[in-house]
Amino acid sequence: MASLLLLLLLLLAPAEAGTSHARVFSVADYGAAGDGVRYDTGAIQAAVEACAAAGGGRVLLPAPGDYLTATVHLRSRVVLEVAPGARLLGGTRQGDYPPESRRWYVVLAENTTGAGVTGGGEINGQGGAFVVTPNAQKNIMVSWNVTGDCKGDECRPRLVGFIDSKDVRIHDITLNQPAYWCLHLVRCDNSVIHNVSIYGDFDTPNNDGIDIEDSNNTVITDCHIDTGDDAICPKSTTGPVFNFTATNCWIRTKSCAIKFGSASFFDFKKLVFDNITIVDSHRGLGMQIRDGGNVRDVVFSNIKISTRYYHPSWWGRAEPIYITTCPRHPDSKEGTISEIQFINISSVSENGVFLAGSKHGLLRNLKFKNVDLTYKRWTNYSGGLYDYRPGCQEMVKHRTGGMMLEHISGLEIDNVRMRWTRGSLKGWDVDPLLFRASTIDKLSFHNWQSLDVSR
Ligand SMILES: *[C@@H]1O[C@H](CO)[C@@H](O)[C@H](O)[C@H]1NC(C)=O
Ligand SMILES: *[C@@H]1O[C@H](CO)[C@@H](O)[C@H](O)[C@H]1NC(C)=O
Ligand SMILES: *[C@@H]1O[C@H](CO)[C@@H](O)[C@H](O)[C@H]1NC(C)=O
Ligand SMILES: *[C@@H]1O[C@H](CO)[C@@H](O)[C@H](O)[C@H]1NC(C)=O
Ligand SMILES: *[C@@H]1O[C@H](CO)[C@@H](O)[C@H](O)[C@H]1NC(C)=O
Ligand SMILES: *[C@@H]1O[C@H](CO)[C@@H](O)[C@H](O)[C@H]1NC(C)=O
Ligand SMILES: *[C@@H]1O[C@H](CO)[C@@H](O)[C@H](O)[C@H]1NC(C)=O
Ligand SMILES: *[C@@H]1O[C@H](CO)[C@@H](O)[C@H](O)[C@H]1NC(C)=O
Repeated sequence: MASLLLLLLLLLAPAEAGTSHARVFSVADYGAAGDGVRYDTGAIQAAVEACAAAGGGRVLLPAPGDYLTATVHLRSRVVLEVAPGARLLGGTRQGDYPPESRRWYVVLAENTTGAGVTGGGEINGQGGAFVVTPNAQKNIMVSWNVTGDCKGDECRPRLVGFIDSKDVRIHDITLNQPAYWCLHLVRCDNSVIHNVSIYGDFDTPNNDGIDIEDSNNTVITDCHIDTGDDAICPKSTTGPVFNFTATNCWIRTKSCAIKFGSASFFDFKKLVFDNITIVDSHRGLGMQIRDGGNVRDVVFSNIKISTRYYHPSWWGRAEPIYITTCPRHPDSKEGTISEIQFINISSVSENGVFLAGSKHGLLRNLKFKNVDLTYKRWTNYSGGLYDYRPGCQEMVKHRTGGMMLEHISGLEIDNVRMRWTRGSLKGWDVDPLLFRASTIDKLSFHNWQSLDVSR
């Protein structure tokens, strides 16, 4: 922990030193109305360009003010500063965004060095305006797919994006009501995300919290994420994800709190998740490796989890820990997952731990140390299904157990306790362990207990 804090201080130090003397360009001086009705795009972008031309600094959105805008393009060394009480509001018309859907963001930095977002205020995607039919199970959303540049039902703008950028700094900011993914880093290097609060509608699909794609050296600290879809989500589509840490975070999601994939074409290496609280989520710690990338060297430590069932149209089956690799399509490559440690974890959940590799994509050398798992039921959704989605065997009817193990080589259990409140486990077969022995090799149990605490 101490070394992580030191690393954070070192990483933040140059940015802080830079901004304290940096020139400030207030959008008010460039004609911004800040009335939430007229578009301030021109004024904001003019302030950004002037700031960039001056060698960098801060672009201030002063309070009070609601600044409605089309896509704002950040430049190198320009930090967008939304003052406490001010809001940047994303436009809700397709014409507010660039023609190419991969560039649909309210705030977008491409090819930048040292750009950032901060200021204590809020960036708001007006996600509610994209709901066609509100539905407590899952909202039906608008999809901007008529031009054909984006296909399917997930064509909506993201909130904040950094693409091909270095030294990204995002701190002390609220990101509210994204229409689609909230904070997205793509092929970035050396990024710090600190004290960021994210609020997405709990019934809206695809409003992920933080998606870190194809990026190296990312540090997330002190985040608060309360949203419908996955909260912290490393993905690999065009390159690997190396050196990623997330610490001191609080998460609630109707999907998976920490999810690797499911885009997983390249490797994930050296990731640390420490001091994280996950409440009322559909899944806790998850890996959905489906496309041939390998995961290696990951530590999850000091994590409290509570997971429950939600409507099955959301991926997840209340598993506190869900580590899977299997081929998405019959011809997909099978990645492996190895050297994964779970240390000091406690959970209360409506379903068991699910650890499933596949024939050519084994789980290797998993270690559970000081893990306390409590099982009980408190919602009335039915259980009894294993969830291999996306692809693979999809949903499989099965008994429910404390830990389900499949295609593993090397599993070390050291000081793991399972507690059952049998009376509340309607419809459960109370099996502490379920596994197909022929697919498991090198199991080691030390100090393992399974207790019925209702007696
Ligand atoms: C970013 O850099 C790439 C490669 O140099 C270039 O093709 C692309 O046009 C640049 N994008 C922007 C927005 O500057
Ligand atoms: C466009 O989005 C709508 C709404 O989600 C969906 O029903 C439709 O199938 C999509 N059409 C295409 C061509 O992707
Ligand atoms: C975190 O950011 C918020 C603004 O989003 C700010 O009010 C708060 O003081 C920050 N917390 C710390 C510890 O700096
Ligand atoms: C991340 O590091 C790997 C390994 O060195 C490299 O191949 C990849 O290009 C790096 N990605 C970025 C965005 O710098
Ligand atoms: C990952 O971090 C280590 C230092 O801990 C560094 O030596 C290595 O170059 C980093 N990898 C990438 C791809 O940046
Ligand atoms: C753990 O994170 C919480 C915020 O979620 C913070 O208040 C607490 O101080 C952190 N604990 C340690 C030991 O860093
Ligand atoms: C796990 O918890 C113990 C006891 O609180 C502590 O001594 C140890 O440092 C923790 N391990 C990790 C990896 O944080
Ligand atoms: C579950 O409980 C809620 C009320 O808490 C009720 O409205 C719903 O019909 C129940 N569903 C089932 C499948 O029993």
